[in-house]
Amino acid sequence: MLRTEDLHSGYGEVTILRGVSIEAREGKITAIIGSNGAGKTTLMNTITGVVPTKKGKILFKGEDISRIPAHERVRLGISLVPEGRKIFGRLTVERNLIMGAYTLTSEEKFRENLEFVYSLFPRLRERRKQLARSLSGGEMQMLAIGRALMSGPDLLLLDEPSLGIAPVIVKQIFRVLRELNEREGKTILLVEQNVKEALSLASYVYVLKNGAIVLEGPSEEVSASDEVKKSYLGM
Ligand SMILES: Nc1ncnc2c1ncn2[C@@H]1O[C@H](COP(=O)(O)OP(=O)(O)OP(=O)(O)O)[C@@H](O)[C@H]1O
Ligand SMILES: [Mg+2]
Repeated sequence: MLRTEDLHSGYGEVTILRGVSIEAREGKITAIIGSNGAGKTTLMNTITGVVPTKKGKILFKGEDISRIPAHERVRLGISLVPEGRKIFGRLTVERNLIMGAYTLTSEEKFRENLEFVYSLFPRLRERRKQLARSLSGGEMQMLAIGRALMSGPDLLLLDEPSLGIAPVIVKQIFRVLRELNEREGKTILLVEQNVKEALSLASYVYVLKNGAIVLEGPSEEVSASDEVKKSYLGM
């Protein structure tokens, strides 16, 4: 569904990603792991178009999207749950969800997606009139995921959804991601520092280091590699 080819990007004169080629296959969960500063967020933001591509290609459903604006990429079916959630604290839960639907033109589709998000996260339905800033960290993450789903994406990107969240809620969120994948067939590309969980969720994994992919493979293989055991699993 998504493929990057020799992707280079960065900030101003500074190049962070140096030739990243990855693939998120249709109907699969793909994970990207890597330590702080490896370039994971930069990769996500380059795919969504917030950070410009300097060189290389981003192919989405076969079309090179690397030079089209970010909002057009949402319209084509890419949606990001950003690092740190970035919800609008002074708006209600439901207003935040409505913001995620700005590319939709059909009222019916909007209602359907809203109902879907509420069925996925009943907690959000209960709190729909509440200001988003009054939510707990885990609920905010549910809201960020819900908002990303409101546009009805074919490809869901998540940038460290487990960051700063209690383990029991992390489990719940990962269960929802698995359901989205298995029941709805959503294609998911996930960035995680929670390596153990990411490896168990994803079928294919890339290891990003200093802006380049240093290791990739089916998750069982990557889990078994000495480098990953030592550097990321503390074994
Ligand atoms: N807006 C920016 N301007 C300049 N440099 C930036 C900017 N954002 C990130 N960087 C730099 O790009 C590099 C990669 O950062 P990035 O946020 O992509 O890493 P990351 O893998 O997501 O790290 P983390 O695990 O801490 O979230 C870092 O050296 C960072 O300092
Ligand atoms: Mg990051």
